[in-house]
Amino acid sequence: MVARVGLRSAVRVTSRALSNVGGRQRAVPAATEDQDTRKTFADVQKERQQQAKHSVLINCPPNVNEKTFLNYLSQHGQVANHFFYESYGTHAVVEFFDQENVESLRSHATVPSVQNEYVLPFKSRIFTLNSASSSSGVPVECHRQSSLPINELIQKLCRAQNIEEQTYLLLEEYQLTDENLRLRFLVSSLIKDIAAAYFPEATVNPYGSTVNSFGKLGCDLDLFLDLENIQRKKPGKAGGPFATEYLMKRVTSGRAATQRILSVIGECIDNFGPGCTGVQKILNARCPLVRFSHQPAGLQCDLTSDNRIALRSSELLYIYGNFDHRVRSLVFTLRCWARVHGITSAIPGAWITNFSLTMMILFFLQKRNLPVVPTLDHLKSLAGKEDQHIIEGHDCSFTSNLNKMKPSENPDPPDLLLGEFFEFYGNFDFTKNCIDIRKGKEQNKPESSPLYIRNPFEQNLNVSKNVNQSQLDRFVALARESAWIIQDQMNQSVERENKVWGLGMVLLPAVFQGIGKIKKKRKRTPASDRIKSLLDSLKTNGKAR
Ligand code: CTP
Ligand code: MG
Repeated sequence: MVARVGLRSAVRVTSRALSNVGGRQRAVPAATEDQDTRKTFADVQKERQQQAKHSVLINCPPNVNEKTFLNYLSQHGQVANHFFYESYGTHAVVEFFDQENVESLRSHATVPSVQNEYVLPFKSRIFTLNSASSSSGVPVECHRQSSLPINELIQKLCRAQNIEEQTYLLLEEYQLTDENLRLRFLVSSLIKDIAAAYFPEATVNPYGSTVNSFGKLGCDLDLFLDLENIQRKKPGKAGGPFATEYLMKRVTSGRAATQRILSVIGECIDNFGPGCTGVQKILNARCPLVRFSHQPAGLQCDLTSDNRIALRSSELLYIYGNFDHRVRSLVFTLRCWARVHGITSAIPGAWITNFSLTMMILFFLQKRNLPVVPTLDHLKSLAGKEDQHIIEGHDCSFTSNLNKMKPSENPDPPDLLLGEFFEFYGNFDFTKNCIDIRKGKEQNKPESSPLYIRNPFEQNLNVSKNVNQSQLDRFVALARESAWIIQDQMNQSVERENKVWGLGMVLLPAVFQGIGKIKKKRKRTPASDRIKSLLDSLKTNGKAR
């Protein structure tokens, strides 16, 4: 059993010290407190979808001149917003004020003439701009669409004043930017255009980390093909002795229908979708999906259908992420920590997923003496009539109105919470207990999976069923080790110049080499000794550089 860490005694920073990171205003917590971010999930989605409808993606010639580019586009209408980024060449996302402007651009675009090849003449909103003369001048500013490599991030963290600031700095560096969200919603809208060829009423909505407020630059784009609008149409007024209905093919189950639809849409994406490559139809998964890469956007996409509960859980996470600014900083920090140490992975397997980890963090925050976030049952008790959702027999009701929620009385800064998270799970009885954010209380595990996290809506499902004992053991060992390190770092007021310190220390993979052996050791070296030797080695390395 790891020694209890006295994190409460650790130094706390004032909120004043927090307002400035590396000489500039800290955008994220300030924005989180802004009324603007208290918008409902549905409002945010609607706004982004509207922007996307008026937007186009343009592959630009090398050294494109921004002014000439905008002048050229203005002949089709006023440009409301635009930005450039790099992905297989320079691209621009351009939002017009009006959909008519997009139509104007489309009507002027030509089908490429190619030699020795044939084009598949599907006209999308992705264009190539060919330049008659070679442009020169100032290169356009390209917005970064991927997150900083870990070593650069650690270096940046060193410039913060304290560990709390480091967590906010990490959030600022990693979170999805406005530009990246525009690009993601544009891709979603382009996929909708493909699906609409068969199902004009269909919508395609992003879900998962793109919209749940925990998305990191570079994360996958989860898309949900929603065909409910087709069914929703009410029968017309009775017009005589007959009612007309469509003759439609029938299959034996909803799953079979989903598989057929996804199979055909997957074929369309593969055959006609400009820039869509590596299409894989994974139709026998529990949740059938089509996976592909959208090359011009540089995004890995997973398209599913009939996955309405996942959309609800994305909204639930959005509510938690926007309820209290500490939630996002803690989730981003821990997702980063987990990724660095191989607790989570891009490859599917026995690893803990980001979604499971987020559930664990929320549960921990509910378990504080003064809770940082409320339980799902509490959110359900605040639900209005419009928030009532029963999906496939599961009650998915909770308030969508953040303004109805009473702020948390818990005063702990994220760094303290971080240390306590490590301590909490370093000591958690995984053999007996399961994690459930609906109740916010440990309960007996209904079966023997090493890690049991109840799905918040489908309460009979374990979201971490895939996790095996050895992955859970690694998580616990790392949590214990990190608790020691963070405590040590919080109590230190060492000269920090040219040294990795604070959060950087738990993000350094090197610190944990040989972690598997920790469990077997009977006698530990005090954390301070191990930290000291690490700091010494960093110092030496720093000098050597
Ligand atoms: N989901 C779920 N149950 C699971 C796994 C996923 O309900 N066992 C839902 C969640 O709503 C999740 C979404 O599917 O947010 C997408 O899953 P995934 O891409 O694995 O997670 P993300 O939250 O998008 O995180 P990441 O950044 O790792 O993609
Ligand atoms: Mg995802």
